[in-house]
Amino acid sequence: MGDRIFIGVAWPYADGPLHLGHIAGAYLPSDIFARYHRTKGNEVLMVSGSDQHGTPITIKAEQEGKKPEEIANQYHQQFLDSWQKLGISFDLFTSTGTANHAEVSHDFFLTLFNRGYIYKATVSQPFCPHCQRFLTDRYIEGTCPYCYSSGARGDQCDKCGKPISPVELIDPHCQLCATTPQFKDSEHFFFRLSAFRDRLLVWMKRQTHWRQNVLNFTMRYVEEGLKDRAITRDIGWGIPVPLDGFKGKCLYVWFEAVIGYLSATKEWAKSSRDEGKWRSFWQGNEAKSYYFIGKDNIIFHTIIWPAMLMGYDSLNLPYDIPANEFLTIEGKKLSTSRHWAVWLPDYLSRYEPDPLRYLLSITMPETGDTDFSWHEFVRRNNDELVATYGNLVHRVLTFVYRSFEGCVPMPREFDSRSQAVIDVAKDTLNTVDKLLYRCHFREALRSAMSLAQETNRYLEEKSPWKAIKQDRQASANSLYVAICVISCLKTMLYPFLPFSSQKLHEYLGFEGRVEDDGWQLHFPLPGQKLLPPEPLFSKLDEGLIEEEVSRLGHVKHNL
Ligand code: MF3
Ligand code: ZN
Repeated sequence: MGDRIFIGVAWPYADGPLHLGHIAGAYLPSDIFARYHRTKGNEVLMVSGSDQHGTPITIKAEQEGKKPEEIANQYHQQFLDSWQKLGISFDLFTSTGTANHAEVSHDFFLTLFNRGYIYKATVSQPFCPHCQRFLTDRYIEGTCPYCYSSGARGDQCDKCGKPISPVELIDPHCQLCATTPQFKDSEHFFFRLSAFRDRLLVWMKRQTHWRQNVLNFTMRYVEEGLKDRAITRDIGWGIPVPLDGFKGKCLYVWFEAVIGYLSATKEWAKSSRDEGKWRSFWQGNEAKSYYFIGKDNIIFHTIIWPAMLMGYDSLNLPYDIPANEFLTIEGKKLSTSRHWAVWLPDYLSRYEPDPLRYLLSITMPETGDTDFSWHEFVRRNNDELVATYGNLVHRVLTFVYRSFEGCVPMPREFDSRSQAVIDVAKDTLNTVDKLLYRCHFREALRSAMSLAQETNRYLEEKSPWKAIKQDRQASANSLYVAICVISCLKTMLYPFLPFSSQKLHEYLGFEGRVEDDGWQLHFPLPGQKLLPPEPLFSKLDEGLIEEEVSRLGHVKHNL
């Protein structure tokens, strides 16, 4: 029995399309990790869903004359379509709009409330007299009381990352109409985060396997003192407070969204007709939970969600939270409001999924921000996917297909050079295994690609295309070796490039799915029938660079 791996992925807001920043930050690394573990024979549960509630979506709905759920459902469908096209292999992608999620959130709230971890208090809330609404979170702006930068929001300052409560803002104003808000008293619920300080510290000190940036960020936050946080809002669109007398108040999106990891697991268990099965991923110490998120979500996953879980009791805490940094686009900070973004549905309507997965993996923002540029996209596709890996595969397969009656040739013996290449393949499979286990995606992909380069060098030396004229057996020997290494490449590249790996698997004459073969060097059998090979990747025209760059900054994405 393999390991049990729970993979929770950040829940995207259902009020706008996904862009490459989301993909590089959370969805691609989680998918690579899930595919890797499934190939290893481990039991994986990867879940997420659309985050449907909150103020932004209600304002968008008002502006477009729609209902919030209409917008949420449209984006939800779009997300599902994108996952399928990009190969993001969720076991369940649900939404915060389900009855199940409301029920699990209510239970969570009431349990914490009954244990005294949630309490009621009257607070002064900003209210815009012009817009006639309470200004939640980002709808109130002002100057940060900590770092003094302008444009800080009512929930946090994006510059220094500190959480803020609206009363602390200097020179507050309505984000929609710039009016100075009045402050009105309103009754709200607070999560007693302060009560978890010591337990969090003890737990955190043991998490030496966390990424340095995640650890530092979290430590700094705890050491500055943990303040209790309001977990309800004056808003009608969301999960209502499950107590009488709080009409017009809902659970704060963040409080209920993280509960989605648990509710999604319960939904998954119900639909697999074994309701109790959710426990195998949440209770006992058999499962490890990983959370894939962007760096703006760190605190919620390293502090708040763990504290909620401690308060609820008997549910597993996160094992790792390999948060990524940000992706810039053509050297500039990604901004959805300024349309400085590459929208995923646009990309998928024009190009293949694997070249994007390749580029975002080889430049993944694991230790610092990295840049996406269309020039790099074309260059890496043409030089690395097509010229290094794709050509290796295509040259070998077409030649073998033509010269050996469409079958894997029969080798006689391996000379030491050939044996050495096979050994490098085995070593690389191990190295990639260890790197992926520790979520070092970029390095893992680099190792795999260096094996492709090494195999190209081997073939340069052996030149089986020429050798076949004098010594057919020598040619068969080196081509067999090449086929074995290619088969190994398809396994280790599968988490990154699932579409082309599956094709290659079939060209090599294997049946079923790559991941069913396991994480091992699977030598094709001599005589195994190949399928007629097609190139795995195609060269991209440099002309697209200018065309794509010119869309940035003004092409708005619509549903
Ligand atoms: N929708 C939020 C965001 O995209 C929160 C995502 S993570 C969750 O930033 F766990 F809270 F859902
Ligand atoms: Zn206003």
